[in-house]
Amino acid sequence: MENVTVIDHPLVKRDLTLLRDKKTPSNQFRAILRRMASLMAYEVTRDLNIKEIGIKTPLEKTKGNIVSQPIVLVPILRAGLGLVGGFVEVIPDARVGHIGLYRDEDTLRPVDYYFKVPKNLKNALVLVLDPMLATGGSGSAAISYLKEKGAQSIRFVSLVAAPEGVRTISKAHPDVKMYTCSLDRGLNQRGYILPGLGDAGDRMFGTE
Ligand code: PRP
Ligand code: URA
Repeated sequence: MENVTVIDHPLVKRDLTLLRDKKTPSNQFRAILRRMASLMAYEVTRDLNIKEIGIKTPLEKTKGNIVSQPIVLVPILRAGLGLVGGFVEVIPDARVGHIGLYRDEDTLRPVDYYFKVPKNLKNALVLVLDPMLATGGSGSAAISYLKEKGAQSIRFVSLVAAPEGVRTISKAHPDVKMYTCSLDRGLNQRGYILPGLGDAGDRMFGTE
């Protein structure tokens, strides 16, 4: 699938195994997710544009670099919140927007309840964060909203993706690159990713 990069670093694979394990309790789930998010942030930002600047070390003048494109993180509530801390740790000056969506249990269509994103999205690299890309309905709706708000450069970051969701986003938003730690087998009848890791929001917040 050409629009998708699978982040298959050994440490990411180790952590994903812990998250998939149903015995992993919420407190550990949150900590592992945060650590994974930092590892993922390195891969997702590997090709960022940088600008050369002059600095002085205690000994002499030298050249250094700054990131030249502003970065905006947009978690999809609730589960996307679990990725924010790890991303902010390695991109401390990122601005953060929020999109509230939940899936209707019967139709599996996203229902929106909250939008708040920073101004001036036009020049920013916008990273949409959601651990689960299942049917792709939520991700696709979030991306459409961000485009309406002016975003022109968008990446979608998930922990686990189903082929159905990747196809939905590729079709609706061919300009959006996707990153995931695993392309799983598919979806069950209730729209859950197989083998997946269950309901990410419930596992993170202990609301099962
Ligand atoms: C989950 C997940 C995604 C969505 C993925 O959220 O965090 O946002 O489902 O499914 P889709 O690709 O089929 O749209 P959920 O609706 O469970 O809300 P929650 O995070 O508040 O629990
Ligand atoms: N949302 C989740 O949290 N898990 C899935 O497997 C699918 C959608």
